[in-house]
Amino acid sequence: MKQRYLITGGAGFIGSHLARKLLDMGQSVYVLDDESTGSSTNVASLMNSPDFRFVHGSIMDDDTLARLVGTCHFVVHLAAAVGVKYILDHPLASIMTNVAGTERVLHYCARYEKPLFLASSSEVYGLQTKAPLKEDDFCILGATSVSRWSYACSKALDEFMALAYHHKKSFPVVIARLFNTVGPRQSPAYGMVLPRLVDQALREEPMTVYGDGRQTRTFTHVSDVVEAIIRLIGAPAAWGEVYNIGGTEEIAIGELARRIGQAAQSRSEIQFIAYEKVYNHNFQDMPRRVPDISKLMQATNFSPKIGLEKIIADVISDRMAQQAEQS
Ligand SMILES: NC(=O)c1ccc[n+]([C@@H]2O[C@H](COP(=O)([O-])OP(=O)(O)OC[C@H]3O[C@@H](n4cnc5c(N)ncnc54)[C@H](O)[C@@H]3O)[C@@H](O)[C@H]2O)c1
Repeated sequence: MKQRYLITGGAGFIGSHLARKLLDMGQSVYVLDDESTGSSTNVASLMNSPDFRFVHGSIMDDDTLARLVGTCHFVVHLAAAVGVKYILDHPLASIMTNVAGTERVLHYCARYEKPLFLASSSEVYGLQTKAPLKEDDFCILGATSVSRWSYACSKALDEFMALAYHHKKSFPVVIARLFNTVGPRQSPAYGMVLPRLVDQALREEPMTVYGDGRQTRTFTHVSDVVEAIIRLIGAPAAWGEVYNIGGTEEIAIGELARRIGQAAQSRSEIQFIAYEKVYNHNFQDMPRRVPDISKLMQATNFSPKIGLEKIIADVISDRMAQQAEQS
């Protein structure tokens, strides 16, 4: 039977890919997005589908949110203030969206008894240095005077609220902590490292690596992340649980820059810049962030299919197309 999915933040990077996939699967999709970091152009190719509807609006608007939650079968909550740069530039609005906005989504999902997928983040592990990270590892956040931790803290609070709703009201919710997700349509504007380095390489500008470049991350292709989300949505045994979604190929950011330069056949140099010079704020970064995805694999039989080489190649083609359009 055709189900109607409401995707909050569906005009964003991950949401637009998820919307396309659900439509391809024969489902119906409503998107609610205020276009603060996303854009309706991300879903322009879906607008002609009779099964797709775009609503420009905010999760903070109770009437709109209640109406949409009430008419859908399932809610995927992706709307959030996202990106280190965006969070630092808009600290208060980001906290309000990520805490008060999510509380509204939970409230209406519980009222209308609609199951919910909640996007959290690997940021909740904070300064934890263990690798790989399991879902029940300690979350170690930095001082409140360091603004970047507000994002991690707000996502952790979202998880607490969702689990409290689940336990108190038997409300079906599944929570996923996404690790760095990358691919076509990700904007470099809000502090996302891979599209930013690719843009610099293509423009033959210096590729700027923050810190000493030894900090490591994993990168997961958005199509793998979408597949993991869809499998979790279809797994009732996952209700009330938290899952890591991420890749397993660990790479230092300095090495990532080198590989991007090579793949883009760029003559750009790699420049290391101190964090203070970039953010003008009291800033801290995590030295390492690698997920243990055994819980996800056990629940959904999922494992990422796309390796780093293809991820970089896909982002290069996407950014080349974007740059050509802008010029
Ligand atoms: N991309 C990643 O690497 C990553 C990693 C961890 C977690 N996440 C989470 O995944 C989700 C999607 O992130 P993304 O990478 O697609 O980012 P994105 O910025 O492209 O998407 C977020 C979308 O939410 C919308 N939005 C923001 N505030 C809103 C509001 N008040 N009402 C309605 N819409 C609003 C934005 O306009 C945007 O389209 C977020 O919850 C994010 O925290 C992403």
